[in-house]
Amino acid sequence: MAKITVPDIKARKHDGMPITMLTAYDYPLALLIDQGGIDIVLVGDSLGMVVLGYPDTVSVTMDEMIHHTKAVSRVVKNALVIGDMPFGSYNVSIKKAVSNANRMLKEGRADCIKLEGGKNMAPVVEAVVNAGIPVQGHIGLTPQTASALGGFKVQGKSADAARALFEDAKALETAGCFSIVLEAIPSPIAKVITESISIPTIGIGAGVQCDGQVLVIHDLIGLFDRFTPKFVKQYVKISDIIAKAIEEYKTEVTERKFPDEKHSFSMGSEELEKMKAALGKP
Ligand code: KIV
Repeated sequence: MAKITVPDIKARKHDGMPITMLTAYDYPLALLIDQGGIDIVLVGDSLGMVVLGYPDTVSVTMDEMIHHTKAVSRVVKNALVIGDMPFGSYNVSIKKAVSNANRMLKEGRADCIKLEGGKNMAPVVEAVVNAGIPVQGHIGLTPQTASALGGFKVQGKSADAARALFEDAKALETAGCFSIVLEAIPSPIAKVITESISIPTIGIGAGVQCDGQVLVIHDLIGLFDRFTPKFVKQYVKISDIIAKAIEEYKTEVTERKFPDEKHSFSMGSEELEKMKAALGKP
């Protein structure tokens, strides 16, 4: 299978086949996701919450994002790899945004970047795109600015708020984004936006009419227990399986059942006797 490119993703707008996207932050899960034929792997700044144990995504640094993007891009062969720009890496100045986006590609080896924000971020998007770096937008519930939005809440519920979202999507399209994540917005708004722009929309809590869907992998496999948004479908509860394995290991070690012969190394009896004799042991 050939490596998926940005033009491939843009072309999917018209072929009717929904785009699949999942987050990954390390080698083992990125490998499974890529082997599973997922189109896009996002090294999301959700890293901060599901892997690094921060209370939110605001604390995540550029260096942390690059460290994990490197691990993912080292293993992914087919999917498009997107490096998420953390809070503070692109909202200070356009110069800093372009420079940090360059780092994401040069050091992290991502294929492109994602950043949060609508109209307000259009000049940043334009500058990064002009620097030759493809950008995925992200509007609706933007976790980095959740405090300004009044918390982790569904966005765009009033007619005015929905119109503002529509304008944000249009501004990002004009600025040159190759796709836009729509997070936690009513499905009818996501449908209108999807039908009104020429680039693919990727939904997370935005209904089935988007051009694609994304989930945080730790939510999908049940490996994050702090909270589960309504839009998350947990396909397996892997944490129960891991907890059971840890419990069995603990029991077997304390009862001296592990390691058994199958998991131990033996030694020729002649050599053993020689060693015992040399040490004066019976
Ligand atoms: O950081 C992240 O995982 C994201 C997805 C939820 C889209 O931005």
